[in-house]
Amino acid sequence: MKSDKKASGKAGQRAQAKELLRLNLGKLSLKSPIVIASGTFGYGDEYLHVRGFSFDDIGAIALKGVTIRPRAGNPAPRIVETTGGMLNSIGLSNIGVNALIEEKLPMLQDLGTHIILNVGGDRPEDLIDAAKALSYYQNYFSAIEVNVSCPNLDGTPIGQNTGTTARVVTSIRKLYRIPLIVKLVPNIASIVEVAGVCERAGADILTIANTFPGMAIDVFKRRPILGNNTGGLSGPAIKPLALLLVHRVYRAVSIPIIASGGITCARDAMEFIIAGASAISIGTALFYDANVCKRITEGLVDFLNEDAKMNGLEQPRPLKDYVGTLVLNG
Ligand SMILES: Cc1cc2nc3c(=O)[nH]c(=O)nc-3n(C[C@H](O)[C@H](O)[C@H](O)COP(=O)(O)O)c2cc1C
Repeated sequence: MKSDKKASGKAGQRAQAKELLRLNLGKLSLKSPIVIASGTFGYGDEYLHVRGFSFDDIGAIALKGVTIRPRAGNPAPRIVETTGGMLNSIGLSNIGVNALIEEKLPMLQDLGTHIILNVGGDRPEDLIDAAKALSYYQNYFSAIEVNVSCPNLDGTPIGQNTGTTARVVTSIRKLYRIPLIVKLVPNIASIVEVAGVCERAGADILTIANTFPGMAIDVFKRRPILGNNTGGLSGPAIKPLALLLVHRVYRAVSIPIIASGGITCARDAMEFIIAGASAISIGTALFYDANVCKRITEGLVDFLNEDAKMNGLEQPRPLKDYVGTLVLNG
């Protein structure tokens, strides 16, 4: 009897702790601030059997970027570890729109979390076509994320051009009733300007940001290590860069932000939330710790309790109360 009481007490505490992490990302109600980053999780099904991994710890999954036709991607090697991060040049290798509809849609409904469709492509028309082909199935998804960070045919990402970005966002907005997320390019003269353009073109949420372009060299061969020569840098190495971008955009727009770039622990997550993110994306950390989401969930609850104690509060404040609470010096 006593142990039953103890068990139900613990379950109650866990439920209370989970309540602290609930938040709204625009119109989306998330049970956790954690959004799985596109391209680092496949379609989620591989994780169904990973020990200790729970979809309960996840607010949403952004699917691997899909293009109108299947793509083989770039030549190998496509991934290389670097100091504090990794470079990837996957090149949008994916199964294409038709296979996503036929093979993945039914399974995705059973994962018990929000599913975010992510569309990519080399040219603006490719992105719009992929979105168009999937628009009939939009009720299967909680939101669509438009990745304007893919390098265009001339090597520059679509998202570096504000006019082209506005055209893509406006076109896709017309096709979708569900929330529209735009995933911005980090290496741009003014991310604030393009963020404003996206907001005015109808974006509901912004993901800030994507990988930074980079290179690694094999000094004996005197050749780049990646088959594609260059790749996108992700992981802890980019965290301070992404953090500054998130804060700058937070001050300039009124739509919510998903932070993406090098988040590996609860402290990282809190930094981004205080800087202005409403949700945090986990990507590279999943490559070396399949249980990173559980670790972050527990760490966030511990932080909220600790912070309440330090401030003499009877109850911890919910995570959403911390969004954008950064106080600048001077
Ligand atoms: C292997 C790999 C594949 C990725 N593929 C995509 C993709 O298809 N679409 C996209 O929008 N972002 C893609 N990304 C970018 C991630 O979603 C994320 O924005 C980026 O890695 C930064 O976060 P992180 O440091 O937590 O990994 C990819 C990243 C990696 C490492």
